[in-house]
Amino acid sequence: MRLHLYVNQRTLRAVFVFAFSLFCIIGLGYVEPAFGQNDGVTNIFRPLSQPAQEIKETSLLVLEVCAVIFVVVAGLLVYGLIRFRHRTGDEASEPPQVYGSNQIELAWTVLPLLIVFVLILVTSRTIADIQNRKSPPGAVQATVVGHQWWWEIRYPELGIVTANELHVPASDGPKSRPTFLKLQSADVAHSFWVPQLAGKIDLIPNRENLMWIEPTQPGTHLGNCAEYCGTQHARMLIRVVVQSPEEFDRWAREQQQSASVATKAVEGQRAFFANSCVNCHTIRGTSAQGKFGPDLTHLMSRESLATCVVPNTVDNLRLWVRDPQKFKVGCLMPNMQLTDQEVDQIAAYLQTLR
Ligand code: CUA
Repeated sequence: MRLHLYVNQRTLRAVFVFAFSLFCIIGLGYVEPAFGQNDGVTNIFRPLSQPAQEIKETSLLVLEVCAVIFVVVAGLLVYGLIRFRHRTGDEASEPPQVYGSNQIELAWTVLPLLIVFVLILVTSRTIADIQNRKSPPGAVQATVVGHQWWWEIRYPELGIVTANELHVPASDGPKSRPTFLKLQSADVAHSFWVPQLAGKIDLIPNRENLMWIEPTQPGTHLGNCAEYCGTQHARMLIRVVVQSPEEFDRWAREQQQSASVATKAVEGQRAFFANSCVNCHTIRGTSAQGKFGPDLTHLMSRESLATCVVPNTVDNLRLWVRDPQKFKVGCLMPNMQLTDQEVDQIAAYLQTLR
């Protein structure tokens, strides 16, 4: 078959690229279990919490409606291209011209209107469902503050301050225990996004945004900052640790304690307080009350360091104290030019913060 107008070939190519993209997007939702797991891989097509579940259902409906429209339009286009292609002898005559068919014009005005109306209704209902959710008694209240480039996490009612790893209880059917989040920023705009739990919500300076999550199974869910916020934006990761209600309560009780008094690493403690670490970090129960960096009171209870970039191991802790810029170029914790001995001592002291 020979297509005479190169515009048609270009159109065809665009149609195929679009179809392939659509196929990939929809297909991913179904074939993903082959390479995705509950933990580790973030995936909007495998929601593990409200409101992510409801958002996925709405998105799939929109995708399906669009897919049907696409197939119909592309089918008609391909049919037209083939059926009415150029043939020898066509030069003399014009194709029949159709103007002002009321039926056709009505059909292509009313049908899209109806489709768009249905999509608006479904989307509005989803948005209203999510936004109007009231905090039930017993819900966990937490405040997440975005910083360049880490997350401060506060539980005002529980008297807990931590960083980068948000602990929440799993909701269990009748014992609904969602977590309501207040999102704030200390500097620039960030965006809190844990794809399997909820949509993304921005953290904006001088403004408080609200969201809630209600995961039902224990597990660790990964997320990241989804709004470009500077050099280390890509490494502004977040973990949401969903625990059974009992485990969560135990975790909360432990976090409420002040730091244990160091009996072993006293040189390290001295070195920590002699340097300017105390200006930026809080260790509750000590004179370290800095607010600029993460609270270190229970540093060793966290799984990761450097905003979830590396596991919280002795070696990584030592490397981080020696030169944070190695992990995160441009991060606001400077290289303190500590001696090897000081690095070892401070790392040993930090390891007592359990
Ligand atoms: Cu914070 Cu991007």
